[in-house]
Amino acid sequence: MALLGAPCMQPLRSILVQHTVMTEVPMPIDEKIYKDIMSRHPGGVTVVTTIGTSGKAFGLTVSAFCTVSLHPPRILIVIDKASHTLSTLLASKAFTVSFLEEESADLAMHFASADEDKFGSLPHGSFIELDTGPALVGDATAYMQCRTAQEIDSGDHWILVGAVERGVILNDAEPLIYSHRQFRKMMPL
Ligand SMILES: Cc1cc2nc3c(=O)[nH]c(=O)nc-3n(C[C@H](O)[C@H](O)[C@H](O)COP(=O)(O)O)c2cc1C
Repeated sequence: MALLGAPCMQPLRSILVQHTVMTEVPMPIDEKIYKDIMSRHPGGVTVVTTIGTSGKAFGLTVSAFCTVSLHPPRILIVIDKASHTLSTLLASKAFTVSFLEEESADLAMHFASADEDKFGSLPHGSFIELDTGPALVGDATAYMQCRTAQEIDSGDHWILVGAVERGVILNDAEPLIYSHRQFRKMMPL
């Protein structure tokens, strides 16, 4: 006997299933070639921050940022499982993304370090405290505050999809770019 309501289950299941399970060859491409290809793909540089339950701020430099959706506004960031910030990002379900301006390579390197406290040594006024994580207002062109909408475990990284709750434009400076394993500036054609 057919179950009452069973025809409705298929659409619901297809909405809930978000990833495909497949057999993957561990390293089908030469690692150096893979990295060399990635180095040819330029990215803007951001600093992603968040706040732990104790109120301590964490943050790291992230170039793996991408827009996802306009309605509703969603973005994604990709975070290494080795990152010390990751556990707080997964727990807080909230983060701030600061988009660095072209003179901010030193700050990008600072947030790419393994420092325990990356905020203590920053000049007064260079960041503002927010409930999603500090915004690097002294070195950014803009920032956005996000709540985590989806978390996707993928290989040695996590993909965090952020629902954008607030965005602030700070100035019209050019962005900092990372390409060919170097920080670079944009140049008009
Ligand atoms: C230009 C640049 C881009 C980076 N992009 C990412 C990224 O997208 N995701 C990531 O997990 N790490 C990225 N990193 C590396 C982290 O910033 C670095 O591992 C940092 O030490 C992590 O800090 P944490 O362990 O305190 O979280 C990037 C580093 C640099 C210099």
